[in-house]
Order: sequence, then C-alpha cells, then structure tokens
Amino acid sequence: MIELPEKLLKLLRTAKKVAVLTGAGVSAESGVPTFRGDEGLWKKFRAEELATVEAFMRNSRLVWEWYMYRRELISSVKPNAGHYALVELENHFEDFTLITQNVDGLHRAAGSRNILELHGNITRNKCFDCGQPFEGEIDISRGDIPRCECGGKIRPDVVWFGELLPAHAINGAFDASDTAELFFSVGTSALVHPAASMPVTAKRNGAYLVEINREPTPLSDIADCALHGKSGDILPQIVEKLKE
Ligand code: OAD
Repeated sequence: MIELPEKLLKLLRTAKKVAVLTGAGVSAESGVPTFRGDEGLWKKFRAEELATVEAFMRNSRLVWEWYMYRRELISSVKPNAGHYALVELENHFEDFTLITQNVDGLHRAAGSRNILELHGNITRNKCFDCGQPFEGEIDISRGDIPRCECGGKIRPDVVWFGELLPAHAINGAFDASDTAELFFSVGTSALVHPAASMPVTAKRNGAYLVEINREPTPLSDIADCALHGKSGDILPQIVEKLKE
C-alpha cells in the first residue's frame, strides 16, 4: 500500500474542487501505445508526416492510414483499473473535472462524465474546411477521401501539432486548473503545451499538486507529492484511502 503525506490524506477528505489531467500513460495498461519513450509511437513514426495540417494537405491518404491503424488498435481495448478509479474519484468529490489529452475515449467508456478532451476524439470525424461533424462511414481502401457537403475533405476530429485546441475544452480546463484545491497529473510526460502548463497553473493558484507517473517528469520537482508507479496500481490505492 502506498504511503501518502498527511496533507494529501486531509485533502482527500476535505477538498471540494478537484481536477485531473491525464495523458497516454493512463491508457498504457489497456494496451494503447504512448507517444514518447522507447516503445512510444513517435519513436517509430514522424509526427510531422502524420499529425499536422501540412501532412494532411500533402498526403491525406497517408494521414488517414495512420488514423485507421490507430482506430483499429483502439477498437479492441478496454478501460483499466486507473480509468475506473478516476470514475470513483469523480463520484466522491463535489466538483470534479477530468482533463485528458487522450483521444481514445477510454475515460468515457469507463464511466467518467465531466471530461474535457483537449486533443479531440479519434472516433469522430469532421470537415477539414468547415469543421462540420461527419457521421458517414470512412473507407479509404477505395482510394478517395470522403467529402463534406461543402466539398472539403473529411479528417479525424483530433488536434494536430500547431492547431488550436477546442475552445470549450481549453477554457474549461484552465478554469478547473485555476480553481482546483487538489490537482492530479497522471500518465503524462508533461511536455506538450498548453496541457503541460495546467498543473503549473493549478499549483501557482494554490492547488496541492500530485503527480502519478511511471517515471519522473519535468513536473516532478514542483509537485507536492510525486508517486512513481503505474496509474492502474496507484489510482485504485488512492480510492482505497478515501474509503478508510
Ligand atoms: P507521452 O507518450 O508523451 O507520455 C506518456 C507518459 O506516461 C510518460 O511520462 C510515461 O512515463 C508515462 N507512463 C507510461 N505508462 C504508464 C503507466 N502505466 N502509468 C503511469 N504513467 C505511465 O504522452 P502524453 O503526455 O499524453 O498529442 O503526450 C501528450 C501529447 O503528445 C499527446 O496527446 C499527443 C502527443 O503527441 C497530439 O497528438 C496533439
């Protein structure tokens, strides 16, 4: 069982406003690859060829193949103990916001409700030109990229490098970070902004900052409590502490 500092144990009992930022590490135990690290996707693939507007304009088919590959990968995975523990945390605290960089939809599948998806959702599609959601089938095997009524090409509804984050998600995420009493940063390398600045903002505004990660990150030094291990092990133990 993990040892938690007294101050954190007290906040688990008393805090009303809690925010959590998650990254790819939370889904790692479900079998979804992370982006960085030795086994990370960005070791094998070049982000600038696959996850930018320029890449889509240059070679939409290649970008679609990459997203179809990832959709296929995600289609068979299930939430893990870390995702379910976050649902329990949401049920426990009066005001709970789950900010995620993940596009895999596993938080929703686990039952989390107040979710802000900073980087979109890989299962949705939208028009590259007008942004309208697209509900039709995507079948790139025949060659053509589906088109919107406006004529624009359909793309996955995710945020690519260099793009703005959805306004609702980013505004909600900074509001929650500004006002949280307790902030958890879980399974993220804390390298990609603006997400990476949210724990820092929270801490600056008085939140108690907890990091949960398999290894140290740039955030570890400023965290009030850095717990190193798998989120699927540590988050359920935090839930257990709530019940004590
Ligand atoms: P990264 O791949 O950068 O980092 C994953 C983090 O999870 C690392 O710090 C690992 O140490 C940690 N980790 C791995 N397994 C873990 C486990 N079982 N429990 C706890 N921690 C674990 O992923 P993100 O931080 O999510 O953006 O990356 C941020 C963004 O960069 C992504 O949303 C994506 C990517 O490029 C876009 O595509 C726009």
